[in-house]
Amino acid sequence: MPGRPKKPFRASAKLLAEGLPSPFPRTLAPNALKYLREVVDSGMTTDMMGRFEKAFAEALGVQYCIATPGCTPALHGLFLACDFAPGDEVIVSPITDYGTVQGLLAQDLIPVFPDTPPGNINFSAETIAPCLGPRTRAILCVHKTGIFCDMDPINALAAQHGLMVFEDCCQAVFGQYKARLAGTLGHAACFSFDPEKTMGSDTGGCMVTNDPELHERARYCAQNRAGTMRAGFGRVHTDVGYAYRMPQCTAAICLAQLEHVREWVAHRDKMARLTYRLLSEIPGVTPVPIPSYVDVFSCWMMGFNLAPGAFRCPPAEFAATLANAGISTASLAEYYLMPAALEVLRRKTEEGCFPYSVPPASRTYTYSAESCPNARDFLKTFIRWVTFCEKWQPEHCALAADIVRETANHYRA
Ligand SMILES: Cc1ncc(COP(=O)(O)O)c(C=O)c1O
Repeated sequence: MPGRPKKPFRASAKLLAEGLPSPFPRTLAPNALKYLREVVDSGMTTDMMGRFEKAFAEALGVQYCIATPGCTPALHGLFLACDFAPGDEVIVSPITDYGTVQGLLAQDLIPVFPDTPPGNINFSAETIAPCLGPRTRAILCVHKTGIFCDMDPINALAAQHGLMVFEDCCQAVFGQYKARLAGTLGHAACFSFDPEKTMGSDTGGCMVTNDPELHERARYCAQNRAGTMRAGFGRVHTDVGYAYRMPQCTAAICLAQLEHVREWVAHRDKMARLTYRLLSEIPGVTPVPIPSYVDVFSCWMMGFNLAPGAFRCPPAEFAATLANAGISTASLAEYYLMPAALEVLRRKTEEGCFPYSVPPASRTYTYSAESCPNARDFLKTFIRWVTFCEKWQPEHCALAADIVRETANHYRA
């Protein structure tokens, strides 16, 4: 079908002067102040955290939600609740944030990072399979930038091996995989509501699950400090426990944000797909692929890869030029490569520190970029920015694509 001739996009002087929107100042839903006032007026007696937990669980269609001060403590709470022993292994996405792994490290579990398939930001069932062993207990999937891991084959593989499947949904809040919501695709999932994130508050996070035992144990160990009353004595602590409770004022803001997040996510989906379509028209530029199983792309972070040899500058210079030209925060993010970034693990494995001593580990481990060559190569040419947000309109998508196009033309080999 003959397409309409495309008008070249020309950003207005006003748009150029204003620049691309960023998440700050944060969009706060209308009821934020109302719920905060309720907390204050009640003299801290209202159970805003409980209200948020109920509302979030209902919105996701799950049985249980435990609200925490962030995703990092939520994931720690999840691993506290699991019946895993020091030296047991958890398969973890190799491209992620440190917050994904801190909880399992705290429990002396050993992360194993499979590679990604070439050109992909997430791992897959095929790359996970060779990493499974007798000590593997769980697979922790990160839906990086809002692109889902392909969960059906991962769940099938996990079922074959009797493994638990967890999701880190920090970057995919209310995204949908084959019409199913992020956070409902495994045994449990954790979220972040830090101020930069899609449902941003001042801080905050949560764990969700349909498993009553996992819920009960996470509530007990992660929120109630593993404390239980003994007659004639008072509280005793039967386990290592923490008080990872979402603050009431944070819960008030999260509750208000929850009322609007789905419309923000629907808008992000449209704007992200538009931006990626425009970027894909630029020779040498490959936006993160959006697989067809992503029904709602809750894009948190935008990014693309540069074709090797297509430009006369290193990727870092390309990114710096974009940042100067108006895509603020554009930069490489090689530090997302966990096996390379976790120097602590390199040291511990070299020194044979617990739990990397044998026992409790049953083999030796090495952590380096070379263990995940595809993920390493992906990140070497991956330029991303974190200022994409619900405020973007089609003209912002076009402006961002124009900036990338002009930079690409400038540096084209
Ligand atoms: C994928 C991922 N996991 C975990 C975290 C940690 O979340 P929080 O800051 O709420 O602890 C982040 C935060 O950036 C993240 O992006």
